[in-house]
Amino acid sequence: MLFSCCILSANAQIRNAPLTKIDAEKASQNYQKYCALCHGQDREGNAADFAPSLKSKSLMATMPLNFLASSIGFGRPNTAMAAYLSDSGGPLTMKDIFTLAIWLKHESGVETISLPLEPIKGDPLAGSDLYKQNCAECHGTKAEGITAPALGNPAFLAFATDEYIKYAIVNGREDTQMNSFKEALSDGQINDLTSYIRSLTSGWSPEPKELSPYPKPGEYVTNPEGAQPEFNLREGRYVPMEQVAKALKAGKKLVLLDTRTTSEWHNAHIPGAVPIPYYITEDKVDEGLPNDETWIIAYCSCPHAASDKIINMLRKKGFKNTAVIDEGFFNWINAGHPIIGGKQN
Ligand code: HEC
Ligand code: HEC
Repeated sequence: MLFSCCILSANAQIRNAPLTKIDAEKASQNYQKYCALCHGQDREGNAADFAPSLKSKSLMATMPLNFLASSIGFGRPNTAMAAYLSDSGGPLTMKDIFTLAIWLKHESGVETISLPLEPIKGDPLAGSDLYKQNCAECHGTKAEGITAPALGNPAFLAFATDEYIKYAIVNGREDTQMNSFKEALSDGQINDLTSYIRSLTSGWSPEPKELSPYPKPGEYVTNPEGAQPEFNLREGRYVPMEQVAKALKAGKKLVLLDTRTTSEWHNAHIPGAVPIPYYITEDKVDEGLPNDETWIIAYCSCPHAASDKIINMLRKKGFKNTAVIDEGFFNWINAGHPIIGGKQN
């Protein structure tokens, strides 16, 4: 609540804000460090996990600064898009996030359009049928996102206005898989679709979170007295999650690395996992990790991009038994394997 109020008022102050050279350089560095992994070095999208383009004119022209900043600050829960705000356990301050958002706008070179705020009147039932026929293959039958953003995501719908959604359907997002539906569907049908997507709203708002302390270097090994597990790796790198779950159940000795943004570790993680986010620097990556052939297993939601980055760093430093959980964290949860929330830890 507190956050949404401040983001809104900050938006009013920063609208058309100039970007100093120093701020632009900082934002560009932060972008490469935290975002390029999935959104691509040049903001083109799709580098990992079907992350959207952050340079399409249609997105940058219609996404207001507060929506852009909140997407970065609070993320999109239950997708690979994590919360980056420090209050949520992420690595960036509110100022860093606004600077990054303003920089993204500047880089795109487009003016923000003010779309009308009035709701669009359509028939959500008719929209639901149209959605199944035209949209579900990419956005998911429950709008949960597959190769395209989760349109039913509560954090998306809390900020996306009807006109914002309609604009994307009418105009598409250039240089992405999202085509314009201007020719294929009538204006009335697009209104129906918009009403259907709006009907998925659940009344989400960002809440401050209680953050728990990180494990200390002496606590990194899970089951320190246990026997060495045996894993069969695909491509010398990827371990099926069932093998890891079995090893944990049998009390085998290993280190689990959660390579996602730290806010995601606070939300939920595999019990015993140590937060070593993908944006850690190479000199710090192995701090406190045993380099004695203890198995080190990394995971992320991507399901490989962030883990691969960390495992590559460790292998370069001579760590022998390292692997990435092949299916990623969301599949781990869906399979019913144990997880723990930051708070109960
Ligand atoms: C691990 C991969 C990953 C990383 C790293 C990542 N994102 Fe994302 N991002 C995503 C995905 C996936 C989505 C789409 C989520 C959804 O709605 O389904 C997304 C969505 C977004 C959106 C909303 C765009 C839209 O079309 O709705 C913005 C803005 C964004 N990310 C900015 C950033 C910024 C800035 C950073 C760096 C601070 C970042 N992301 C880091 C994966 C990532
Ligand atoms: C072929 C796959 C595909 C189909 C079919 C498709 N979309 Fe998309 N859609 C995408 C992708 C990919 C993006 C993200 C584009 C980007 O910014 O990189 C997207 C983005 C969007 C967005 C913007 C979301 C945001 O976070 O800003 C909306 C709204 C949307 N689609 C609605 C629809 C609707 C409604 C339909 C059906 C009429 C549809 N899409 C059909 C792939 C698809």
